[in-house]
Amino acid sequence: MDTETTDSPTAGELGPLATALLHEHHAIDRGIEAFTAHSSGVSGASGVSDAAAKLQAWFQPLREAMTALRRHIYLEEEIVFPSLRTGGLMMALMVMVREHAALWQAMDNLDAQLDAIGGAAAPANSAPSDAALSDAAPTQETIDALIADCRAMLSLLDDHNSKEEPVIYPHIDADADPETLARLAEFLDSGHMPEGWVCQGLAKQ
Ligand SMILES: [Fe+2]
Ligand SMILES: [Fe+2]
Repeated sequence: MDTETTDSPTAGELGPLATALLHEHHAIDRGIEAFTAHSSGVSGASGVSDAAAKLQAWFQPLREAMTALRRHIYLEEEIVFPSLRTGGLMMALMVMVREHAALWQAMDNLDAQLDAIGGAAAPANSAPSDAALSDAAPTQETIDALIADCRAMLSLLDDHNSKEEPVIYPHIDADADPETLARLAEFLDSGHMPEGWVCQGLAKQ
């Protein structure tokens, strides 16, 4: 089976666990889009602490989406894919793992940008000053770069999901062994990615 893009299945066309993963795709997209839609960020801040708080509030949906995406990649690579790695899906799964690595690197890059901006906006020990406030507020150029990188990641996600949903997901509920399905259901309900886990495409390097 190749990985040519075909129409993505809708929730009603997939089994319950694949549908849960499909919903995760949509929730992650919405989180990133919520971030890019509010790029005014710290406008209207009345001090360094206020500016820092506004920045953290603006970052929140993107940080949550990236936490969800790393967890999603973890459960696919550690729980779902091993049970489907037979016959016709081998090549498609290799492509998925390679694309996860590109997504992971895009997230690492975004995290570094958020940390750099958030660090500059950390409240100073001394009384807030106009100079400190202007240091705290990211420049329009910095914001534009961040938004452009988010849009690039959304495009990577769209490209990835538009293959994964029609090629891989129909096999999950149908072909994975019962033990895998039970483990996946439990993880979806309450599982956490282990601290420090890195996607397989980067861990091998
Ligand atoms: Fe996925
Ligand atoms: Fe994936």
